[in-house]
Amino acid sequence: MSYQTILTARDGTVGIITLNRPEALNALNARITTELGQAVDEMEQDDGINVLVLTGSDKAFAAGADIKEIRDKSFIDVFDEQFITATWERIARCRKPTIAAVSGHAIGGGFELAMMCDIIIAAECARFALPETKIGIIPGAGGTQRLTRVAGKALAMDMILTGRRLTAEEARACGLVSRVVPDGQHLPVAIEVAQEIAHSSRPIVMIAKEAVNKAYETHLAEGIHLERRLLYSTFAVEDRREGMTAFSEKRKPEFRNR
Ligand code: CAA
Repeated sequence: MSYQTILTARDGTVGIITLNRPEALNALNARITTELGQAVDEMEQDDGINVLVLTGSDKAFAAGADIKEIRDKSFIDVFDEQFITATWERIARCRKPTIAAVSGHAIGGGFELAMMCDIIIAAECARFALPETKIGIIPGAGGTQRLTRVAGKALAMDMILTGRRLTAEEARACGLVSRVVPDGQHLPVAIEVAQEIAHSSRPIVMIAKEAVNKAYETHLAEGIHLERRLLYSTFAVEDRREGMTAFSEKRKPEFRNR
C-alpha cells in the first residue's frame, strides 16, 4: 500500500513505520493515524514480519494530536467518529512486539502513542510531556492511565497538571523508557533490539507479551494464574521443543514460528 504521511520499510523480519509529517512535527491528524493503523494491519498480517518499530524524525517523534484539525470539533463530532479509539489505538492492539524509537518531541498524543508500544528507546534529546490541559483538554489516548500505571500517581499528576517535560534520562529513571542512547542512535538501536526479539520464536514472544500486558489489567493471583496457563501452552508450540533441544545439543535453535 502507498501512504502519504508515513513511510514503511523492512529490515529482515523487522517492520519499520516512520511518521512523516515534518511540516507539523508529525502532529497526529486523521490521515496519519489512519495510515498508521493500516500499516500495523499490514505488518501484523505479514508472516515475514516478527516485530514492529515505530519512529518519527530526529526533531519529533510526534507533537500530539493535530490541534488545528480538532480545534473546531464538537462533542458529537468526536463521539461519532470515535476519535482516537477508531484509529490511533490500533498499535496498542498489535499482538506482535512493538518498539517506539523516540527522538525530540514526544508530546501529548505523541507520548501516548509511544506508551502504546511495548518498549520505548529514546535518544538523549527526547522530551516527554502531556501538556493537554494548557490547551483546554486532557490527555485522551491513554495518557492518564498508562503514565499513572508506569510512573505512579505523583509524577503523573505533576506532568498532567503542570505540563512538565521529562528528559529522556528522567523517563528512563521512572520506568517509561527502557534504554537511552546517543542522539541519532535511537532507530539503529531499536532495530537491533527488534532483531534480537525477532530471532526468537514469534508465537512464543507473542505469548510472553500477552502475559506481561496482563499485569497492567488484573491482580496478582489472576495474573500468575494466566501466566502459568500461558507457560503450559508454550509446551504445545513446536519451537519450544526446538529451543530446548538446541540448548541440549549446544547449537543455535532453528525456529519455524510453529
Ligand atoms: N498540532 C498541529 N500543528 C502542530 C502541532 C500540533 N500538535 N505541533 C506543532 N505543530 C506545527 C506548528 O503549528 C508549526 O506549524 P507552522 O510552521 O505552520 O506554524 C510547526 O508544527 C512547527 O511547530 P513550532 O513552530 O511550534 O515548533 P517549535 O520547535 O517552536 O515548538 C513544540 C515545538 C514545543 C512541540 C510546539 O510545536 C508545541 O507546543 N506543539 C503542540 C504540543 C501539544 O500541545 N500537543 C498536545 C496536543 S493535544 C493531544 O495530543 C490530545 C490527546 O491526548 C490525544
